[in-house]
Amino acid sequence: MRNRVNWGSIFVFYCFCLLVKVDASSRHQLPHDPCDLSIQRRPELLRPDQMTVLINGYSESRIPLLLSIATSYSASPVVAAVLVLWGNLHTPPRLLSELSRNLSAASLGAAQISLVPQSSSSLNARFLPRPLTIETRAVLICDDDVEVDAKSLEFAFRVWGSNPDRIVGMFGRSHDMDLARKEWIYTVHPDRYSIVLTKFMLLKTQYLFSYSCGRGARMRRVVDEMGNCEDILMNFLVADEINTGPILVGAERVRDYGDARNDGGSGENRDEVRDAGLSRRGEHRKRRGHCIREFHKVLGRMPLRYSYGKMVNSVGEQGLCNKGGKLVFCDQFLGRR
Ligand SMILES: *[C@@H]1O[C@H](CO)[C@@H](O)[C@H](O)[C@H]1NC(C)=O
Repeated sequence: MRNRVNWGSIFVFYCFCLLVKVDASSRHQLPHDPCDLSIQRRPELLRPDQMTVLINGYSESRIPLLLSIATSYSASPVVAAVLVLWGNLHTPPRLLSELSRNLSAASLGAAQISLVPQSSSSLNARFLPRPLTIETRAVLICDDDVEVDAKSLEFAFRVWGSNPDRIVGMFGRSHDMDLARKEWIYTVHPDRYSIVLTKFMLLKTQYLFSYSCGRGARMRRVVDEMGNCEDILMNFLVADEINTGPILVGAERVRDYGDARNDGGSGENRDEVRDAGLSRRGEHRKRRGHCIREFHKVLGRMPLRYSYGKMVNSVGEQGLCNKGGKLVFCDQFLGRR
C-alpha cells in the first residue's frame, strides 16, 4: 500500500510546475532579468586587461562636460567600453538621440561609448549587472563631473589588478561612532577612510551581481527612500564579504566639478571645486549618517573597515603611500585596521 504510486498527486504536482514555469517566463519578457543566473558570464572568462566605464549622467546642462569626460575615458588603453547610464527620465528623446550620436562620433578610433537610457531613476540602477554588455573583469563607476588624468586612471587600474577583491577609489570618507550620542555617523578623517565615493569607484564586475541580486533588498530600499547612499551600501557589502576596507589612490590631476546629489563634504583634492554652504553640507552628512545606521541595523553588525594612506604613482612601479605627508611602502600598512 505504502509503495503504490499516487498518480493523482503526481498530476497535481505536474500542473503546478507548468504554472510556475509560465509565470516565471511571462514576468521578465522585457528585455531580460538582469539577475538571471543563466545569462551571467563566468568571471574567469571576462577580460582581465581592461575595464568597462559606467558613467552616471543626469543633468542636461552638463552634457558638454559629460562628452569630454566620456571621450577621455574612451581614449585610454585600459578601457574596453564606456557606458553612459542616463538616469533622467524627463530628457526629451530628441536630445537623447542627439547625445547618442555625439557620443558614438566621439569614440571613433577608441573604445566605444554607448548611451544607455535607464528605465528608472533609482540610484541602485548604477550597479545593475549588465552581463550582455560588460565583458571585463573590472568596472569603473563614476560621475559625469569628475575628470581624472589618463596616467592616474591606468595607475588605479594596476592597483586594482593586484587587489581585485577590494574597492579602489580616489575619494575617501569615513564612518565613525559619535560617543556622546552613541550612534554611527558619516564623516571625514584626515588619516583614514572606510568608504570610497562613486565619483571614482573601481571594483570587480561580480560585485554588481552581489549588490543587485544578493540579500540586500531591504538596504536597496533605503537607498531608494533616501535618494542617496548607493556608494555607502556597496562599501558595506564588499567589506562584509572580504572583511577589509577599500584602497585610495592619488591622482596627478583630478577635476571635480561638484555635484549637488553627491556632495561628499570637504575635499582633499587640490582642484576640488567646492561651493556648498556649510548648512547644506551638514544636512548631507546627516542623511548619509542615517543610511549608515539603517544598513547597520539591517545587517546587525558594522562591516566597514578602516584603511590608511593613499597609493601614489611614483618612482618606477613601486607602490608608495602618502601617510601624513611621509612616503612609505604601502605593504607596511595598507589594509591594516
Ligand atoms: C552634438 O554635437 C553638436 C555639434 O558639435 C552640438 O552642436 C550639439 O549641441 C551636441 N548635442 C548634444 C546633445 O550633445
